[in-house]
Amino acid sequence: MPTKVVVGVQWGDEGKGKVIDILASRAQVVVRSQGGNNAGHTVESGGEVYKLRLIPSGILYPETLCLIGCGVVVDPKVILGEIDGLKARGITCDNLRIDPRAHVIMPWHIALDGMSERALGGGKIGTTGCGIGPCYMEKAERTSIRICDLIDPALLEKKARASGENKNEIITRVYGQPPIDLDAVIAEYAEYGKRLRQYVADVSVLTYNAIKAGKQVLFEGAQGTLLDLDFGTYPFVTSSNPVAGGVCTGSGIGPTCIEEVIGVCKAYTTRVGEGPFPTELFDETGDLIRERGHEFGTVTKRPRRCGWFDAVILRHAVRVNGLTGLALNKLDTLSGIGRLKVCSAYKKPDGSVLNDFPPSLEELAECTPVYTEIDGFEGDLSGCRSYDELPQACKDYVETLERLCDCPIIMVGVGPGREQNLERR
Ligand code: GTP
Repeated sequence: MPTKVVVGVQWGDEGKGKVIDILASRAQVVVRSQGGNNAGHTVESGGEVYKLRLIPSGILYPETLCLIGCGVVVDPKVILGEIDGLKARGITCDNLRIDPRAHVIMPWHIALDGMSERALGGGKIGTTGCGIGPCYMEKAERTSIRICDLIDPALLEKKARASGENKNEIITRVYGQPPIDLDAVIAEYAEYGKRLRQYVADVSVLTYNAIKAGKQVLFEGAQGTLLDLDFGTYPFVTSSNPVAGGVCTGSGIGPTCIEEVIGVCKAYTTRVGEGPFPTELFDETGDLIRERGHEFGTVTKRPRRCGWFDAVILRHAVRVNGLTGLALNKLDTLSGIGRLKVCSAYKKPDGSVLNDFPPSLEELAECTPVYTEIDGFEGDLSGCRSYDELPQACKDYVETLERLCDCPIIMVGVGPGREQNLERR
């Protein structure tokens, strides 16, 4: 296994957790390079279920080095809670390292996340309220606190006071809320720094040395391509770059170090929150996909919007991530649905055909899908253990998607288990 990147290629929730878990079991180093505790993977191992927010999936393997790169924003309270939870279940976390350049989510980021969302009212972004966006904003303002500051009490005192005073101005003047007690925050965060110090190490150096030594390195992505700050459906996006390019800046390696990029998608499309969604289904087929695929938010339980597979989105993802292969999940959900549709292009109101995903939401909202119809398939796929065991109509569906996406489908998911991941090559 060479250096591999795994990214989501739709609007998130594609089942990256399962694919990452399978690949992490073969890797010696697993790296996270963007986002924060707004992500989350569910990993099943030895009959136990682990819910990870910030810590890379490889943590379950004591020999695997797990790295949190500089592109991740770290909430110290959350990561320490995660470490404590894992330790209580016998996972030592001795193999965890956090980059000193990573930025720290402070209480004012969480407070401002909620206040700005409430102020936006009906036009809100739908953030997770974890302070991720305000932390990245402060990173760009160049006043943010980094892990290297957190673990040095004198630096923390100086920088947290400056940053906190500035944010308290906004909290009190703009939002009319009481200020945050900076003395209490500094004392609390100094304790977090003390506890986290043992995990701090230069992730760029560790990753580069591992690659040079021929070790198998896996970069695990969070969120998805359409949630990317630049290439997603702006403004309904996250504040980081979940596309493959984000791996380089978020971990400190160059593009020439990456050999394979695997995009994870579902056999259909889902989206949470607002914004245009050309292949959305408003009928009983959409309801059936939602029920069968358990398409409800993991935390909020909100029903996800469901629709047909959209190859325009996928071609966009193939291009912006430089995908070398696709992992197609939840094929089992489509069994018995009847005839299937796949969106191969968009039609604009003037009748012209659009093959590439448009940059503007207004333009996307005007697009209607051009569908390719294909026979559906029947039967319970969840027991299939090799691609060859799938019904022919099912293989035809997979191969149609492969052709329309212009990317090899290297894995097919017929259930949530590791053994339900059928590798094609
Ligand atoms: P985010 O990082 O939040 O976007 O989530 P994710 O992409 O890691 O998705 P997650 O791991 O939460 O997976 C979504 C759900 O789909 C989980 O409950 C998985 O167990 C399940 N799942 C994954 N692959 C398959 C599959 O092939 N078939 C079925 N039926 N379920 C699957």
